[in-house]
Amino acid sequence: MSRDWVEWHEFYTTPGSSLGRRLEVVRRDLRRALSAAPASGPGRSGEAHRAGPGESVDGTLRIVSICAGDGRDVLPVIAEHDRKVSALLVELDPTLAARARETADDLLLSDVDVRMADAGDARTYAGVQPAHILLTCGVFGNVDAADARRTVAALPALLVPGGIVIWTRAGDASLELRSLFAEHGFTELSFTAPDDAPFRVGMHRLAGPVRPGPLTGRLFTFR
Ligand SMILES: C[S@@+](CC[C@H](N)C(=O)[O-])C[C@H]1O[C@@H](n2cnc3c(N)ncnc32)[C@H](O)[C@@H]1O
Repeated sequence: MSRDWVEWHEFYTTPGSSLGRRLEVVRRDLRRALSAAPASGPGRSGEAHRAGPGESVDGTLRIVSICAGDGRDVLPVIAEHDRKVSALLVELDPTLAARARETADDLLLSDVDVRMADAGDARTYAGVQPAHILLTCGVFGNVDAADARRTVAALPALLVPGGIVIWTRAGDASLELRSLFAEHGFTELSFTAPDDAPFRVGMHRLAGPVRPGPLTGRLFTFR
């Protein structure tokens, strides 16, 4: 791997850091995405709801986080949420994957699968159910432009119709990503770009009709 990602995670705890602020935006967007994702099963008010395209029959919302780190963006948010959620966290670093597992256990989250695997290899997603929400945070800044393109192009194959992607990228390079998402069938739900910090957080929804291509080969490799 290209750098010490355990050490990188320590910047989260620096008071007022750009990374710490980014974390709050990602968590906020994830809360919004959880509320916006299609409902199924008995509704909050008790009335029945028939599952539509992309909805799971029992109402479980599936989250996939690519290069998930220690899962601090996803795990506390799903612990506070009142809908049934399952999460697959794909992370290559054994220490971070172990921390994510520990956090999931501490939060009593039973439906969390932390997979120590290569998220850049399409084979990792064999048999994985399409996600309602997918996070690619801290990925695009570490891969070259061709890999970013391949990854965005592959995302529809990992999502249900109407599925939501939350992504990050620092600085002006984020503008190119917004265009890439638009090219690949996504509509923008939000784009957070503070004047006083370099981080950018985008949230895009996969708009139909979508015909995802086959998911094969390498999507990305960290530089
Ligand atoms: C910039 S950090 C982002 C972590 C997390 N998503 C976040 O935003 O806090 C990048 C993470 O990607 C992981 N990583 C790098 N290459 C990977 C790969 N091919 N498959 C899975 N994880 C990978 C690193 O170990 C690191 O935890």
